[in-house]
Amino acid sequence: MRRFFLVATRNPISLLGVALTTASAVLFLFLLGLELISGHGGNPYLGILSYVLLPGIFFVSLILIPMGVAWERRRRRQGATGDLFPILDLNNATTRRLVLTFLVLTLVNVIILSAATYKSIEVMESTAFCGTTCHTVMEPEHTAYLNSPHARVKCVECHIGPGAGWFVKSKLSGARQLVSVAFDLYDRPISVPIHHLRPARETCEQCHWPSKFVGDRLSVRTHYDQDEENTELKTVLVLRVGGIQGRKSSGIHWHVDRDIQIRYRSDASRETIYEVELTDKDGKIRVFISGDSSSEDAGETTTEPGPWRIMDCIDCHNRPAHIYRMPDSEIDRALQEGLLDRTLPYVRREGLRLMRETYPTAEAAVSGITQGLEAFYAETYPELSMTRHADITSAGHFMGELHNRNVFPTMNVTWGTYPNHLGHTDFPGCFRCHDDEHVAEDGETISQDCSTCHILLAMEEENPEILELLRP
Ligand code: HEC
Ligand code: HEC
Ligand code: HEC
Ligand code: HEC
Ligand code: HEC
Repeated sequence: MRRFFLVATRNPISLLGVALTTASAVLFLFLLGLELISGHGGNPYLGILSYVLLPGIFFVSLILIPMGVAWERRRRRQGATGDLFPILDLNNATTRRLVLTFLVLTLVNVIILSAATYKSIEVMESTAFCGTTCHTVMEPEHTAYLNSPHARVKCVECHIGPGAGWFVKSKLSGARQLVSVAFDLYDRPISVPIHHLRPARETCEQCHWPSKFVGDRLSVRTHYDQDEENTELKTVLVLRVGGIQGRKSSGIHWHVDRDIQIRYRSDASRETIYEVELTDKDGKIRVFISGDSSSEDAGETTTEPGPWRIMDCIDCHNRPAHIYRMPDSEIDRALQEGLLDRTLPYVRREGLRLMRETYPTAEAAVSGITQGLEAFYAETYPELSMTRHADITSAGHFMGELHNRNVFPTMNVTWGTYPNHLGHTDFPGCFRCHDDEHVAEDGETISQDCSTCHILLAMEEENPEILELLRP
């Protein structure tokens, strides 16, 4: 044993092994401590480093030690005599100082290395890294994300999440993405749905309690008419969001009740749903088959129904973070928030017309929309066009910005490129299944009855009575 130790300390391979084992062990302990203290436990990059990479280095270095010993023995057997290293005499003050300096420097190295690793992990998981490193490619997603309720949630929290398995998957796909950016192979627009997205139930449920009873929710939506006054119109509905109350789930969130399961088969875009299978909590199965998937659409392009997909949050909330809007809802929001001047006659109608046109670049959109608006007022309201020139110009600029939040010519992203499944007004959404066309064996369908999902109290009314009633 003693001999082994002697040989081990006298050859560079073993020494390297010893150094690496020590360093990785120290780094491991450091990260472990950090995790315990700061609660960075969920960080996937940190996890992979401390539980996959470092132990790997540790074990490989351990193997280096006996390998070095074997090498040294062979070297000796082949007649090499003498020591490879000078003998360190710790009784010598200079040597002692040297050794001490070496140890201190090593310690400093370890600390610097730890800090650097930690920092680089932080950078890699930052939103800026994901959202802006490959600027044009991620521009649509990054822009749409900044205008969403999840603007403070990091990209990795939805796209990667904790766990080594997902980390490796995401790194593999990251490597593929790097290649496709480098060689310009990526899709424009990036195609959705993402088939390998981390299961939504794992991601979303880190922050949202799925069984929380939201119940009925009053929702007031403000729209504007295309008339001269840009008249304000209100839609009032009670959305039956539901959830679990008293062990029974109801309403819209019933689809994600733990006791039931809904699976479906669709085309690759998930826009056309052919079959829906519902397993209720007694294990009873019902299958709803789309009327037009079997017989009638023989003439249409026949797309093979894909594999079964279990319905989860993303089948409704497919745009939690990358919310692209249609031009009318952008303008309505801006008018409601007072960011667009409602006193400009026909501003909504003209804005919509100009925003829907095609512009080659973001700058061209701003100047095109502004000039178009100025031209409209100059011709139709010459006087107003003089007195309120500044208001008109700034409205034009703002509409250009609204346009550029949703349209990205370099990525071929335009109005409606990315459908939103929540609702049914701009895209099929809920009506992909709730169309009264998906029929079960007993003849029942997945209902399109308006009151299944909401109570419509007013629809685009100027002064809905219901809001008067609710006013204190
Ligand atoms: C709240 C969760 C969440 C966050 C935070 C998030 N994403 Fe997403 N992202 C999604 C979901 C869900 C989809 C899948 C949409 C689908 O499959 O239809 C998606 C889709 C995408 C797509 C595919 C194209 C598209 O627009 O659908 C890209 C690219 C993307 N995300 C990048 C990012 C980047 C970059 C960030 C950070 C700036 C980010 N994501 C932050 C949930 C999130
Ligand atoms: C890291 C935490 C986190 C994760 C992960 C997360 N969310 Fe959120 N979510 C939030 C926060 C914070 C808000 C903002 C609440 C607010 O603004 O009132 C929010 C808001 C929402 C809202 C309400 C939006 C609105 O208009 O008010 C929905 C719906 C939602 N999230 C769905 C999802 C879905 C679906 C996923 C999974 C893809 C998800 N969230 C993942 C933290 C998270
Ligand atoms: C069948 C479609 C559907 C599914 C599946 C679904 N949701 Fe929802 N969710 C909705 C609708 C519709 C609303 C109401 C939106 C609104 O207020 O405009 C909503 C609202 C929410 C809200 C906001 C509630 C509030 O208090 O304001 C959160 C958070 C949320 N969902 C999270 C989730 C999570 C997490 C999952 C997956 C476990 C999920 N949802 C699955 C349709 C769905
Ligand atoms: C993948 C297909 C699918 C999609 C998409 C879908 N649903 Fe459903 N939904 C079903 C099925 C299946 C039922 C059960 C029908 C039955 O039992 O007759 C159902 C039932 C419901 C119910 C009644 C729940 C209860 O209390 O019994 C509501 C409310 C509902 N859906 C709302 C929505 C809303 C809102 C959306 C869109 C945001 C939506 N659904 C999207 C398949 C779907
Ligand atoms: C399967 C569930 C479901 C059915 C059936 C349904 N809706 Fe809806 N509807 C929704 C959801 C969810 C929203 C809210 C979407 C959102 O948050 O933007 C909505 C929103 C609306 C809005 C408000 C749009 C806005 O933003 O101003 C109107 C109007 C509406 N529905 C009308 C109807 C009518 C009319 C019917 C009957 C033919 C109907 N809906 C059937 C789920 C449904």
